[in-house]
Parts: sequence; C-alpha cells; structure tokens
Amino acid sequence: MESNKKRGSFTGSLGFVLAAAGSAVGLGNLWRFPYLAAKDGGGLFLVIYLVLALTFGFALMTAEVAMGRNTQKSPVMAFTTVAGKKWSFVGWGATIVPAIILPYYAVIGGWVCKYAFTYVTGHGRNAVDAEGGYFYKVIGLTADGSIDWIPVLWFFIFLFATFVIVYFGVENGIEKASKILMPALLILIIFIAGYSTFVKDPVSGRTAMDGLKIYLVPNFSGLTVTKFLSIVLDAMSQLFYSLSLAMGIMITYGSYMKKDSSMPKSINQIEIFDTGIAILAGFIMIPTVFCFLGTEGLSKAGPSLMFIALPQVFNGMGTFGLVVGALFFVLVIFAALTSCVSIMEAVTSTIMDRFNLTRQKAVVITFASALVLGFIVCLGYNKWLFSATFANVAGGQILDIFDWVTNSFLMPIVAIFTCIVVGYVWGTDKALGEVQLNGEKFPRRKLFVVMTKYVSPVLLVVILLNSFGIFG
Ligand code: ALA
Repeated sequence: MESNKKRGSFTGSLGFVLAAAGSAVGLGNLWRFPYLAAKDGGGLFLVIYLVLALTFGFALMTAEVAMGRNTQKSPVMAFTTVAGKKWSFVGWGATIVPAIILPYYAVIGGWVCKYAFTYVTGHGRNAVDAEGGYFYKVIGLTADGSIDWIPVLWFFIFLFATFVIVYFGVENGIEKASKILMPALLILIIFIAGYSTFVKDPVSGRTAMDGLKIYLVPNFSGLTVTKFLSIVLDAMSQLFYSLSLAMGIMITYGSYMKKDSSMPKSINQIEIFDTGIAILAGFIMIPTVFCFLGTEGLSKAGPSLMFIALPQVFNGMGTFGLVVGALFFVLVIFAALTSCVSIMEAVTSTIMDRFNLTRQKAVVITFASALVLGFIVCLGYNKWLFSATFANVAGGQILDIFDWVTNSFLMPIVAIFTCIVVGYVWGTDKALGEVQLNGEKFPRRKLFVVMTKYVSPVLLVVILLNSFGIFG
C-alpha cells in the first residue's frame, strides 16, 4: 500500500477517464484523422475506422489497461510481473517509444503555441500564406542553415508546461489539469465545429454543407481491392496512434486506476471521447477547407492542412474568422498538452519504478533528455537540414525519422508482443479477471480474446510490413 501511495492514483473513474481521454485526444485526432478521412473516401473511412475502433483498438486498450491495473506498475515492471523477466524487453520498448515521441511532440506543440500566440494577439492574418512561407518561418527553416532560436523557445515553453503538470503528480498535476482542459476542449470543439458547418465562401459560392457531403457520404468511385486495403491500413495505424497504444501510456494510467472503478465502462468512455473528437475535428476541417479551397485544399497532408490550409480558411471567414482561429489553436494546445503529459508520464513512471527514484528526480531526467532530443529535432530544419528517403518516407527530416522509428516501426512491434504476452503468457483469463474484477458485465469478452490472441497480431504484422512499403 505504501508504494501505491507514493506512486499516486486517480481519485476515481472520472479522473482516469478524463486523463486517458486527454492522452488519446491529441494532434493525431486533430490533423491526421481529418486528412485521412478526406483522402480515403470520407464516409467509407469513417465506417472502417469505427469498426476497427470497436474491435482492434478496444482489445489492445483493454489489454494494456488491465495489465497496468493488475500490476500497479509502469511498463517494464508490469511486463516483468505478469510474464517474467525475459519479457521485460517489451516494457523497455514501451518506454523507449514515448521517450522518442516526447521531444518531437513537444516541438510540434511549440509550433501550435506560436500559431495560437499569433492569433490571440490579433495577428492571425500574418499566418495566411498559401505557399507555406509563414509555416516554414515558424518551424525555423533558414536559407543559410543558421540556427533559429524562436522555435527552440516555443518548444521549451511547451515542454516546460508539460513538465510542471507531471511534476505535481497524478492527482494534483495530471488529473487536475485534465479535469480543466478536457471539458474546455469539448466546449471549444463543439462550438467551432457547429460554426464551421454553416460558413459560405462568397467568392466561389461553395458552402461548408457541400464539403460535409464529401466527409460523411461514402465514396465508392474508383474503389479497388488495393485501395480498400490501403484505407483499412490507414485506419488501423491511425487508430493505434490515436488511442495512445503501444506507448506505455495506457499501462501506466491503468496502474493509477482505482480497483473499484469499472474498467469496461471506462474503456468505452475513452473510446467514445477519442472517436467523437476525431469526428468533430473532421467537421471543422473538411467542410471548411473544401468550401474555401476546393478539392485541391483537401489534398494537403498532415501539418499543411492545419498550419497552411486552415489559416487561409479562417481568413476567408472574415473578421470573426480570426476569433475562430484563436479559439482553434488554443483548443489544439489543450489537446496536445494533455497528450504530451501522458507521454512524459509514461517515461517518468518507469524511471521512478525501475530506479527507485522520487517523481521529482525522475521527471527532471525525462525533461532533460527531451530537451536535448527536441533541440536536435529543431536543428533538423536549419543547421542539420537534410531530406531522407527510406522505407515509406519520402523527403523526411529528423522529426520524420523520429516519427517513423516510433509509429511505424517500434509501436507495431511492442503491440505484437503485448498481444503475445497478454494472449499466451499471462493469459486472457487473468486479463479478464482484472477487467471484471468487481463482477462488471463485459459483453465484448469473447471478442477481446479472439482479437488479442489471433486477429490483432496478424493485423499488426501487416501494419509493420506496410511501414517498409511492402504493400506500396
Ligand atoms: N494519442 C495522441 C494523439 O492522438 C498521442 O496525438
């Protein structure tokens, strides 16, 4: 009990659900989901995503949370406890992943802060540049390769804010921050999505409603088996990232979950929250980008959609668009911050548990390592600028390499081994015992077993092969 007290725990189900949903809802929901939905036939992508969320995503999340709560330990010790020392490498993998994601996530968080600052101080029009000039300035791209310290400063501010929340611990830091930021995020996104649906571009005459059709109505035109498989793959890898799986996070947060909280109910709520926010993000982006920029605007990928296309959209909305822009970037800060907190917490808790250090010492170590790696990521846009092409990456910088190593390579591997450990070594019966600890009903019990033991490992191997461009 004493050690549990030292580790901390969420005060109840609500604290756990909001913190875990805060982790899940992040940049992945806000920029990647809408982009994939636009690219992959709108409604068709949505249906496939929902089916996979209720099967694949649900099973992996359940496995991780169950392992965390059962052992009350962070990833390395959790794997050692349920499966023995020889499986601790999976826990190390699940710790290295957030340690690499943390620095680049905070660098992107810094870009978002800079955009929010620009809009909140009334200079939103400066961010409008169809060629991306403003964005390149924000990320610190310099013509002569000299270091630009401004992105480093914004990165530092974002990382430091994350550090402060994690420093104060599970109850006083993570839970308190989530209880403020998540409801605020929900209100903001509902407001902006509602407003965005009714805008009209006076120049082209297009309305957001026209764009809504692209988003919601399944588009089967030109659909081939190969295209269908590529949509499934996109949905799977998106889901995986979006639910914060294979990053040690759900094990760590599960370890702080109270034994009397209902796990099936909490997992349902996290899934609904995460998917709901992703769908709402699509409501903000797809109809408006189509309305103001046409189908060409929708082809913009990832960062370009948020940092280049959206400022053009806010500009098109007139003066009120600047207010909407400010609210939008504040919303993105909230989403990114609660996710970044969970990423930092996953590393910190392992250092605490494994090396028997206080939270304060562990979080300083995590912060310092992220500071160094994040600085290197910033240099990737000026002093150490290069363009790497490998596996399924074309023209990537340091950030893209960090992203590929984690998302495309390590995470599927960690998840495959998580399925093996929970499915065969620890055993699904024991996992289910933890899920239904208080006699809760668990209607997807059989589904959980089949997914964990048979289906998910196969799907994950396919994701991994796809990362190497094997399926094109
Ligand atoms: N789940 C987090 C996101 O979607 C990491 O950004």
